[in-house]
Amino acid sequence: MEERKLFIPLLLGTNRQGRHSEHVAKWLLSRVDERPDIETQMFDVRDFHLPYDHYGQEIKERFPEWRDAILRADGLIIVTPEYNHGPPAPLKGVLDLLLREYIHKAVGFVAVSQQVWGGTRVIESMVNMVRELGLAVTFTDLNFPRVQDKFSQDGNLLDEAYNARADAFLQELIWMATTLRWGRVNVPSKYH
Ligand SMILES: Cc1cc2nc3c(=O)[nH]c(=O)nc-3n(C[C@H](O)[C@H](O)[C@H](O)COP(=O)(O)O)c2cc1C
Repeated sequence: MEERKLFIPLLLGTNRQGRHSEHVAKWLLSRVDERPDIETQMFDVRDFHLPYDHYGQEIKERFPEWRDAILRADGLIIVTPEYNHGPPAPLKGVLDLLLREYIHKAVGFVAVSQQVWGGTRVIESMVNMVRELGLAVTFTDLNFPRVQDKFSQDGNLLDEAYNARADAFLQELIWMATTLRWGRVNVPSKYH
């Protein structure tokens, strides 16, 4: 098995002022950073400034850091709140910038909501979409229901149970990312 660390960027999916998802993303990033087997990098949809008069593939050259990260990535973590049972528009816009770059890589979802369902519905609404990007979805999600109660104002996690949940989430993502990396290297495909 290859020794190189897995590269798994994290994408924070909302640009809402006062977003609680930012606490979740930063906390998870710090958990990932502690691991010896993963390298990560955080991307924030707030930094993309997507124009509305162009779409997807035509403008991806304007975001080379994102393109290069996904080209190199073995997987992706998406942290998204649930907005009307779907993703925030900027998250869809950022994901749509690329296509072939995602193929045969793993994606794990972290979903956030104000109410008790913890973003299960936004994940389910996005599975079809990421499948079309060629990403392979893990089945161990990380859900934050009532996210407003889970962190202090300065972003410290208040519920210790999430440490074990994050480990389970990452373990599954690592398995998928490792397996798919082996497949990309060793199993012929027209995509890589
Ligand atoms: C446009 C919009 C739609 C929303 N729709 C839902 C929803 O469908 N289900 C839900 O549980 N919360 C919904 N919420 C509340 C979010 O879950 C809440 O903002 C939460 O704090 C997580 O997202 P945040 O990162 O924006 O803070 C919605 C919020 C906005 C701004």
